[in-house]
Formats: sequence, C-alpha cells, structure tokens
Amino acid sequence: MGQLTSFIKRKIFRINRERWNYQYDKGLWEGLKGLNELARFSVIVGYIKYLKPGQPEMLEIGCGEGLLQQRLQIQNYGRFVGIDISDSAIQTAQAQGDEKCTYEVDDMDKYQPEGTFDLIIFNESIYYSRHPLETLQRYATHLKANGLLVVTINDHKHSDELWQTIRDGFDLLDEATTVTSKSTCVCKILLPKGAKAES
Ligand SMILES: C[S@@+](CC[C@H](N)C(=O)[O-])C[C@H]1O[C@@H](n2cnc3c(N)ncnc32)[C@H](O)[C@@H]1O
Repeated sequence: MGQLTSFIKRKIFRINRERWNYQYDKGLWEGLKGLNELARFSVIVGYIKYLKPGQPEMLEIGCGEGLLQQRLQIQNYGRFVGIDISDSAIQTAQAQGDEKCTYEVDDMDKYQPEGTFDLIIFNESIYYSRHPLETLQRYATHLKANGLLVVTINDHKHSDELWQTIRDGFDLLDEATTVTSKSTCVCKILLPKGAKAES
C-alpha cells in the first residue's frame, strides 16, 4: 500500500473513531439502554438461547458499550468477543464485562478475528461497513460448522436495499421484526449460502 493511501486510511479511521467517541462521551447513545430498545435485544437473546444452548462462542461486531452481553448471563456463553471502533464505548464494555469477555477497539472493515465462533452478531452495526455483503462474507469464514450470523437492521429508507444486497450471499434461517414506540427493527438469522442448518 502506498504511503499516501495508508496515511489517508489512518486519517479516516481516526476521524470516524473520534466522531463515535464524541457521541458516546456526550451520552448521545444512552438511548440504546432504553425500554424502547428492549425488544430488539430480547429477540437476539431469545435466538441465542434457542439456537445455541450451552456455551456458544460469540463475536459481536460494533458492540458499543456491550449491552448485548450484559443482557445475557455468564452461563449463556463460553467466550464473548466484542469489537467497536469507539474506545470510549469499549472502555465502558470492559468495565462491565466478565472473565469470558474480550473487548477490543478495531474497525470492522479491517479486524481479523482469532479462531471461529458459533454466532457472529451485527446488531445495528452493518450499516457502518463500507461493503456490507463482503464484510458479512468475510466474517462468515470465521463461523464454526453450523455457525450462524445474527444481523439486525432498523427500518430506514435504505434498509430494504441493504437486505437485498445481503440476501445474495446468505440463506435465511429465520427472522423476527420488533415494533416499539421508537422504531421497527428486523433481526435475521443467516447461514452462508448452501450451508445446512443444524436439525
Ligand atoms: C447504533 S450503535 C449499536 C451499538 C450496539 N451494537 C448496540 O446495539 O447497543 C453502532 C455501533 O457501531 C460502531 N461502529 C461504527 N463504525 C464502526 C466500524 N467501522 N467498526 C467497528 N465499529 C463501528 C459504533 O461505534 C457504535 O458503537
């Protein structure tokens, strides 16, 4: 990579990270903890417990302050890895995490996970990837056999288009839509195309 490209990429990463840090420090994402977000988290927690009972290994991309992990109990996972571009959010997640959790600052478009996972979760975060389908496909190579992707997307003017793009690379195992006083959110459980769902 040329020095100029590398410089520009570093600059963009920093600007992006600083914007998210600013928003977390200002409390602009406090709303994610609210009652009107509960349904979205509860659907994911339900899917996790139903689809992967026991101690699944989980990776959450764009995990923010670790709210999903905090809505699970320690016995619901064998390992929980979360990454987010905001070090401010990650500091909060780390402070609340337990010994099975690893939280790291990284960019989803560059991060290389270690090992494989039963579940890889993008909860309200896939929008922030530059190439959503390619990103999901790259992370899907880090799924164990019978591993699943969990993706949620809030309804907005581009959400149908985004789901269409994602559909090209994945089969749908199931989906659930939550409607609250604040928003409508679709949660889909995806398998790499051609992979067989566990019976
Ligand atoms: C709407 S918030 C959702 C946070 C969390 N998943 C939740 O539901 O509480 C989106 C998150 O994506 C993170 N994010 C944005 N761009 C990212 C990137 N390129 N790589 C990793 N995380 C990113 C933000 O810092 C933020 O925490």
